[in-house]
Amino acid sequence: MGDPWEAATPPLGFNTWNRFGMSIDEDLIEGTIEAMVAQGLRDLGYGYLNIDDGWMAPERDRLGRLAPDPDRFPRGIRRLADLAHRAGLRLGIYSDCGERTCGGLPASFGHEREDAESFAAWGCDFLKYDWCHVPFERFPGQSPAEVAKALYGRMAEAVRAAGRPMLLSLCSWGIGEPWLWARGQWQMWRTTDDIVDAYRREGTGWTGDLLQVFHRNARLDEYAGPGGWNDPDMLEVGNGGMSDREQRSHFALWCLMAAPLLIGTDVRRMSDATRAILGNRELLAVDQDPLGRQARLLRSEEGLHLLVKPLAGGDLAVGVFNERDDEGECRLDWDRLGAGARRLVARDLWTGRERRVGGLEGSGVAPHATEVWRLMSLD
Ligand code: GLA
Repeated sequence: MGDPWEAATPPLGFNTWNRFGMSIDEDLIEGTIEAMVAQGLRDLGYGYLNIDDGWMAPERDRLGRLAPDPDRFPRGIRRLADLAHRAGLRLGIYSDCGERTCGGLPASFGHEREDAESFAAWGCDFLKYDWCHVPFERFPGQSPAEVAKALYGRMAEAVRAAGRPMLLSLCSWGIGEPWLWARGQWQMWRTTDDIVDAYRREGTGWTGDLLQVFHRNARLDEYAGPGGWNDPDMLEVGNGGMSDREQRSHFALWCLMAAPLLIGTDVRRMSDATRAILGNRELLAVDQDPLGRQARLLRSEEGLHLLVKPLAGGDLAVGVFNERDDEGECRLDWDRLGAGARRLVARDLWTGRERRVGGLEGSGVAPHATEVWRLMSLD
């Protein structure tokens, strides 16, 4: 295993945005540190506690530095990083390539060096870097991809020069196709618009519902691997906009896609159902498998999707997602998946039940569900 900021496996943790938006303060962060330990999330591997947009004061300080909001973060970020570290967690911070964050607060354009130095001095371990209010007029004739390469390159370099290693999370929502160029400097890159807490949202033009995010991210499997991951955005598990079954699909699909898993709900108040999903160790092991492969979408027909993720040691994670509103029948050729092994066992990663499998089998999949198995050979 390398150092955590090198992201040999997809990053795991928590982020404030999906549940709290701009309404964050130091009490929330302190309570979340305690809850991540008390709820066992840290011990499951959820190691990053990431502060998203909303932490900065409305203007830079007299010396031109970013400062935490004096009302909501009166005791500063450094203390929170110390608390996180003492609890065995790592602290993430947020800024943006442009002149303002998406929430309208000061951002890092033209201040990359001093901001990276502040984050390093405070003891931050992770930086999410957003893409709002980018001054394109300062880059005449350059495409969005060229501007993204320049600005993300600038910040990665500033962080390197500041001397404290951080895991770098690129957030251009897929603009500029960062999967083609960010590896080596950035350890994860968003592939889609912001996720919304909905399985399917029709008629709004919004492209961030679960189905759209899944479809867009699933076809980028060849770009994910140790050190650099496709990021289909943070988890909405526990936030109330999806049925239990849809939330289980959300989690299983993200694990199959070797996605970073950043919990986006209030971990101080989780239901048993939420805890059971986020705490599914077998699925976490699929996500965190050291081979670091994103599942390949082997088949996609009539709303039934077959995903296969090779695991270290020769096992396979096999998932079938039924996106339709009625039950689907998926035919699986176990022998072919098992590459000719004579004796195959499939363990259902939701129920833990194991059974011998072979030949062609039909599997009924409930609407919006994802069945997921670990396929093992006994030969
Ligand atoms: C963008 C990002 C989100 C979140 C918000 C904060 O929309 O994609 O993940 O960070 O900004 O304003």
